[in-house]
Amino acid sequence: PLEDDHDYDSSSFTVDSLNLQKQIDELSSFSDSPLPSVTRILYSDNDVRARRFIKNLMGLSGLSIREDGVGNIFGRWEGSEPDLPAVSTGSHIDAIPYSGKYDGVVGVLGAIEAINVLKRSGFKPKRSLDVIMFTSEEPTRYGISCLGSRLLAGSVSLATALKQTVDNQNISFLDAAKSAGYAGNEDFSDVFLNDRSYSAFVELHIEQGPILENEGISIGIVTAIAAPASIKIDFGGNGGHAGATLMPQRNDAGLAAAELALAVEKHVLESGSVDTVGTVGILELHPGAINSIPSKSHLEIDTRDIDENRRNNVIEKIHESAVSISKRRGVELLEFKIVNQDPPTLSDESVIKAMESATQVLNLSHKKMISRAYHDSLFMARKAPMGMIFIPCYKGYSHKPEEYASPEDIANGVKVLALTLAKLSIS
Ligand code: GLV
Ligand code: MN
Ligand code: MN
Ligand code: MN
Repeated sequence: PLEDDHDYDSSSFTVDSLNLQKQIDELSSFSDSPLPSVTRILYSDNDVRARRFIKNLMGLSGLSIREDGVGNIFGRWEGSEPDLPAVSTGSHIDAIPYSGKYDGVVGVLGAIEAINVLKRSGFKPKRSLDVIMFTSEEPTRYGISCLGSRLLAGSVSLATALKQTVDNQNISFLDAAKSAGYAGNEDFSDVFLNDRSYSAFVELHIEQGPILENEGISIGIVTAIAAPASIKIDFGGNGGHAGATLMPQRNDAGLAAAELALAVEKHVLESGSVDTVGTVGILELHPGAINSIPSKSHLEIDTRDIDENRRNNVIEKIHESAVSISKRRGVELLEFKIVNQDPPTLSDESVIKAMESATQVLNLSHKKMISRAYHDSLFMARKAPMGMIFIPCYKGYSHKPEEYASPEDIANGVKVLALTLAKLSIS
């Protein structure tokens, strides 16, 4: 049936799954770790190769390409009314150490394929359609999550901070960005989107949890994204010889870190809700020798909740524990830095409606759900009505090499994305 009196027929939507899978596999080969794991770090050689790969595909789909100062990549299909705010979709292709092929990638390659689907169906957009590849959704290199979308959303503090930011090899963000061909004018505030850029943003992503697979449902419609936060902590002690320094004389920075890690778990469990989570994903000891008492320790803590106050309460308790542990152990709390403390975000009702009606037209089962992972959508929601489409993934695995989504589930997601974009483009 023709929808909304427009000249396209979603029952004839065809996804080229074979080619899409080939692209997913090829992209996974741009990695700093051996397959099946994927490691693709911001502005690394493999990231630059992957970016070239994406731009090439955008070009083959007839999109006109623009890159901003931090390397967010935009591929535009111009609509018949190009002065209207456009409709945008996209995700990220950076990959945390030893992760999988699908996180983010499905929402970039799948978005380009959604454009191909629409072109093959004869659809002509009214509002322009943008596919966006966001820079550094993952915080791996510079500690900042959703770096590209955070800037697009207008974070003045981030634009300022980036001029001083260095990675753990002391390579500045500016130098790294320049080496990848970006940061031409060093003013990151020129990345900010204006309020009329987009009328809607939709992101396709693997669920990264087990619900859709367990319940045999094809599509998840995200209604809200949980509130993420991250903290960096350094303890300092005197260190010394592991044999000659007797126990009463020690102030072991490593044990302070160990105790704090357990305190994080305790505070999270005491929140009273299963929705509160906390992880010590990084724990480093200096100098890292078996016969040397740690003189420094470094922890990075990730904590999230769908309830912002409850999450903030956990952060406060972690801080209290860090202070009391350092006092009791005679260890210095050198740094307690809240890197980000973001609010949760709701999807927009009008985008939810468009996604829901797309699943109905396409005859796909769907369920409304919360995203416990964060996404660039968290920040794009500040600039446009936002929605997210989830597809099932094997056992809910993500951020590890076993991550997998079937070609069929990906194709369903691409079709729902294509139809949602079409609806939003002509509205
Ligand atoms: C995104 O990768 C997240 O950690 O939620
Ligand atoms: Mn991720
Ligand atoms: Mn992701
Ligand atoms: Mn530190």
